[in-house]
Amino acid sequence: MSITDELGALRDEVLSAVAVAATLNDLDAVRVAYLGKKGSLTGVLRGLGSLSAEERPAAGKIANEVRVCLEEAISAKREALASVDLARRIESEVVDVTLPGRRRMPGKQHVINEVLDEIVDTFVGLGFSIAEGPEVELDYYNFTALNHPADHPARALQDTFYVRDLSGDRAVVEGESDVLLRTHTSPVQVHVMENQKPPIYVLAPGKVYRRDVADPSHLPQFTQVEGIVIDEGITFGDLKGILEHFVKQIFGEERKVRLRPHFFPFTEPSAEVDVSCGICGGKGCRSCGGEGWLEILGCGMVDPNVFGYPGIDPERYTGFAFGVGAERVAALKYGIPDLRLFIEGDMRFLRQF
Ligand code: PHE
Repeated sequence: MSITDELGALRDEVLSAVAVAATLNDLDAVRVAYLGKKGSLTGVLRGLGSLSAEERPAAGKIANEVRVCLEEAISAKREALASVDLARRIESEVVDVTLPGRRRMPGKQHVINEVLDEIVDTFVGLGFSIAEGPEVELDYYNFTALNHPADHPARALQDTFYVRDLSGDRAVVEGESDVLLRTHTSPVQVHVMENQKPPIYVLAPGKVYRRDVADPSHLPQFTQVEGIVIDEGITFGDLKGILEHFVKQIFGEERKVRLRPHFFPFTEPSAEVDVSCGICGGKGCRSCGGEGWLEILGCGMVDPNVFGYPGIDPERYTGFAFGVGAERVAALKYGIPDLRLFIEGDMRFLRQF
């Protein structure tokens, strides 16, 4: 085979190898195999030296043309492969900016604890200090020292969870256990009076328990905040003023307060407190049952009999107390129709606050 034929065959071989190279790596392998230091074309070019002086110029010219042709083919293919590569990468790394983002839900306080903090802050701002009492309480603190006669209906098993002594196996009959789950935070009044001397300005938040089946307006466990003030010269006017301040802080300046006469064994006189309906402003609408008012708490002047148990002088001191349910305040503040929503832990509900 003449050197010209040899070069022609080599060129065709390289061109078809370049054509089938599918990746930049393949292409580089082709380049090394033919044009590299030990490549086939390089070998042929080296062989030119052994040709005669007449043959050499023509053969050298063809050899050079073949080399240039191959170099161009390889570099054109390299560009083509590189742009295919780039297109593929762009496609695989594409970010769909229309996809909705992944939202992280940060943890937060439960709405009842938020409302509780708001109530506590309001009274701390007035100079009250915070006290706590046990949730498992003695009958004495929950009832007797709060002036409940021995036959008061609230002591009945239907209303109170009694705690049984597990060393015995008798069913608990009313009056046979004097340990119970407190039914209100008022027993903290008695502990405070036992432990502190007037002047007393104390707020006692905590859980309370009643034998109620959960329904839209009752929970077997809920949260109360007890307020107790004992000082010289405390009047019903002080009580009303403080409650008005409280209601306006929690519900807004435009809300009004109404006191209705009521009865509690441990306060005299006693009142129930209503707040004007936030939806109709007091005119009467569906959400306040046409009343214009919604009940939020019970209160009254501490009964002198209650002062007798811890030994506070009723001739020198007077005081008031109130008890407000945090779930009820939260329900009225946010227009929640069913108290059970607060304890069910449904995130769709809790996320709103
Ligand atoms: N303890 C009462 C209740 O749970 C509320 C109350 C507290 C009333 C203090 C008067 C004074 O209903």
